[in-house]
Amino acid sequence: MAMSKLYLCLQAVLLLSLDASPLAQALLTVRDLHHHGYHHSPTGPSTSNLSTGPSYTPVPVKGKDVDWLEFPINLEYLEAEFFLWSAFGYGLDKAAPELVSGGPPPIGGQKANLDPFLLEVIKEFAYQEVGHLRALKKTVPGFPRPQLDLSASNFAKVVNVALNTTLSPPFNPYASSLNYLLASYLIPYVGLTGYVGANPHLRNPTAKRLVAGLLGVESGQDAVIRALLFEQKGDLVVPYPYTVSEFTLRLSNLRNTLGHTGIADEGVIPRYILAGDRYFVAYARTPAQILRIVYSSGNESSPGGFYPHGADGRFARHYLSKARN
Ligand SMILES: *[C@@H]1O[C@H](CO)[C@@H](O)[C@H](O)[C@H]1NC(C)=O
Ligand SMILES: *[C@@H]1O[C@H](CO)[C@@H](O)[C@H](O)[C@H]1NC(C)=O
Ligand SMILES: *[C@@H]1O[C@H](CO)[C@@H](O)[C@H](O)[C@H]1NC(C)=O
Repeated sequence: MAMSKLYLCLQAVLLLSLDASPLAQALLTVRDLHHHGYHHSPTGPSTSNLSTGPSYTPVPVKGKDVDWLEFPINLEYLEAEFFLWSAFGYGLDKAAPELVSGGPPPIGGQKANLDPFLLEVIKEFAYQEVGHLRALKKTVPGFPRPQLDLSASNFAKVVNVALNTTLSPPFNPYASSLNYLLASYLIPYVGLTGYVGANPHLRNPTAKRLVAGLLGVESGQDAVIRALLFEQKGDLVVPYPYTVSEFTLRLSNLRNTLGHTGIADEGVIPRYILAGDRYFVAYARTPAQILRIVYSSGNESSPGGFYPHGADGRFARHYLSKARN
């Protein structure tokens, strides 16, 4: 079975890299991450703002780049909380409280019913998101964690809108590994298109280095999720009369509709394990397009969905202030 091949392959990658210190560090428990601070050793005194070593060395960034690096903190909070809660049954308040900066705990986070393989994958994704938040918050001032809604009913609403129906029983992202993969399909890909969209606006070498590094790992997460869904693309999402492929197509179409961009998203169907344009270059989205999607409202000034009170940072606050005028 292809699933076990992918599993073996991932295991081989893990084993081969176990003596490489960054991955070994990534495999520490979240509690260890917190206690040890998860610092890579610096590559030595830096004479310019360009980090030339193989590891990212945070240097505070100033100017317009700050807005472009603060915006994704919204998405990294969402990803960190979603993966942490689902894998461990708790979130940043316990795993890395110093990253919360006084923001309220998410609504509706819970441990997901995952098979042992997917549990290992999601644990690793959770560590990655904690690392991403740490890197961003050492580079730009950031803001407190926004209110997030991770409740099953919020995911169920998105799925109902995507399928243009009311599923019975309501879709529960936390009920099974397949449901969880479909829910995860909604998350890192949006961040990925945001990093592609941010890159052309950046000036500072540190900001470019960070965005490229974050984009690389977010793309890896998206690829793992899509490969696992691809393997099951013809299966029904029990007990509903829709296949995995149909689910992903409808979710991608919904994002295209909400974002008002034309195509920047593609379901998991034959020949489309990964999404890309006619050159197989990743699609880009602007902050406004991303907000329309994660608010589930199609309107960057109208919060809701995963962010009941809206996102933070200058771009998101700008759109929210438009609504109040
Ligand atoms: C480089 O970083 C230093 C301090 O970290 C800062 O004062 C300086 O403005 C930065 N230079 C650029 C080009 O961003
Ligand atoms: C959604 O379903 C309703 C009736 O069930 C139908 O009238 C409508 O055209 C559908 N919308 C889309 C976009 O398919
Ligand atoms: C977007 O939402 C804001 C705030 O709710 C509202 O004032 C505005 O009219 C909406 N725009 C569109 C195009 O619906």
